[in-house]
Amino acid sequence: MQKPPETSASSLFKTVIGSVCLRSPVMTASGTAGRSNELGGYGSLDQLGAVVIKSLSAESWVGNKAPRLAPVRAGMINSVGLQGPGVSAWLDDDLPALADSGADVVASIWGTTVGDYRTAAEMLQGALPCLVAVEVNLSCPNTSHGRRMFSHSLKDTEEVMEATEVCGLPRWAKLSPNTADISAIAAAAVQGGASAVVLTNTLTGMVIDIDRRRPHLGGGGGGVSGAALHPVAVRAVYDVHRAFPELPIIGVGGVASGEDAVELILAGASAVQVGTAIFADPRAPWKVLHELQGWLNQAGVEKLEEVIGAAHS
Ligand code: SIN
Repeated sequence: MQKPPETSASSLFKTVIGSVCLRSPVMTASGTAGRSNELGGYGSLDQLGAVVIKSLSAESWVGNKAPRLAPVRAGMINSVGLQGPGVSAWLDDDLPALADSGADVVASIWGTTVGDYRTAAEMLQGALPCLVAVEVNLSCPNTSHGRRMFSHSLKDTEEVMEATEVCGLPRWAKLSPNTADISAIAAAAVQGGASAVVLTNTLTGMVIDIDRRRPHLGGGGGGVSGAALHPVAVRAVYDVHRAFPELPIIGVGGVASGEDAVELILAGASAVQVGTAIFADPRAPWKVLHELQGWLNQAGVEKLEEVIGAAHS
């Protein structure tokens, strides 16, 4: 395992997302690091900003038919369909081990109705104190709604964010790049109470099995992540930061190196999440952290905030 260099990492790396102070700006992305301490054998989870768990609904959910994943030329496509054990089972079976690892945790929730989101959020009330925020997934492309997501509608985005206030924790809205005006959707999320936005979820895509002459994934289409998503995420972060310079943004999409993280930070992200890269190398979040620290040191940066959004000035 690569450890970040020792030099005053804590002051260099601290980053603030609304009311949440993270010990480092590199988190795992939802859906890529399990729901407990699965990555704990590859690095110290307490060096990461947070472990963001795979999205949960109030009740257990079976997800989509196999195959659920396929490599694509510049990344990966998935149609997992949000399989999960439900919030209560997670709180009982998975969260305690994650808490013992010393990690800060962000729970991700989803639902098929506004009421579902409210119920899932309600169930998180009084969870262990390692739970520092709730990421509200408004942007999964693999539900029965097909390509119509909550985050394609200003009204739905605002209503879901309002409904999840009941969790009593800061809420981050995870948005979709498959929309004409992501800044307007970000504004609706803030109107509904989001203290940050997570940019972005996957791009809708499809792979056709040419022998069977049918879509390859069991769910039909899917969400494209990895390198192909990176410039899309950089643009989304840049545009939303330009529109709302005070809004904390978490950048996600194709982060596999320190330089990828730097790009998102210069565009306006206060933190990043590492996702698809974990499937190729489970040590990827620590590699990104290490490389990011190297870049910041070399650039003479003493505090991360010096470079957040620096591409705009
Ligand atoms: C899935 O489980 O299908 C992916 C989740 C997401 O993209 O939000």
